[in-house]
Amino acid sequence: MQNIDNLYPITDRMLPREAKEDLLGQHGTLLWMTGLSGSGKSTVALALERELHRRGRLVRLLDGDNVRTGINKGLGFSAEDRTENIRRIAEVSKLFVETGIITIACFVSPTRDLREMAREIVGDEDFKEIYISTPLEECERRDVKGLYARARRGEVKNFTGISAPFEAPEHPALSLDTSRLAVEESVQKIIELLAI
Ligand code: ADX
Repeated sequence: MQNIDNLYPITDRMLPREAKEDLLGQHGTLLWMTGLSGSGKSTVALALERELHRRGRLVRLLDGDNVRTGINKGLGFSAEDRTENIRRIAEVSKLFVETGIITIACFVSPTRDLREMAREIVGDEDFKEIYISTPLEECERRDVKGLYARARRGEVKNFTGISAPFEAPEHPALSLDTSRLAVEESVQKIIELLAI
């Protein structure tokens, strides 16, 4: 590796993104996975993380499990809270992307304006929208967390797909229906999109 003080002689400034990308031998990017609860976002993301790691790539996965219990603890599902949820996730994602890390964010992010906000924060260049398009009937049939049943009984308010809207992306980089594709097939398509 070349001497970084020759490459980046301004010593009172943070090293630029390209220094980190050179170190890692990869480009930072954000894969934004949107889709209904139970659509398979996290399942695909976990398999993708593993495959990219196997190929020597550094990946950071963000999902409800590590975000809504941590930095976004206390935020609910009102329109206001969802906006703040997504805003913070996008800001954190940007920090990872600027460190050269392949970042995968799995969030329902139900409306176009929420996803556009995320895209604006991160920058269009680094933002790839992946729509996990598994139909509502299938997500409800899976009902992994029992939340659809509770939402149908009126016990969960503002439940996306039941009592709150989900707006499908108009021009996603990729659309994946996990009721038709095996997990490995979805992973393969995302890897092709990344071209690595
Ligand atoms: S988002 O709308 O703000 O992007 P996020 O992806 O963080 O949502 O969280 C969605 C997860 O929270 C769902 O998979 C589900 O398990 C749970 N959840 C609890 N209440 C709701 C609700 N009212 N609407 C959607 N998801 C909910």
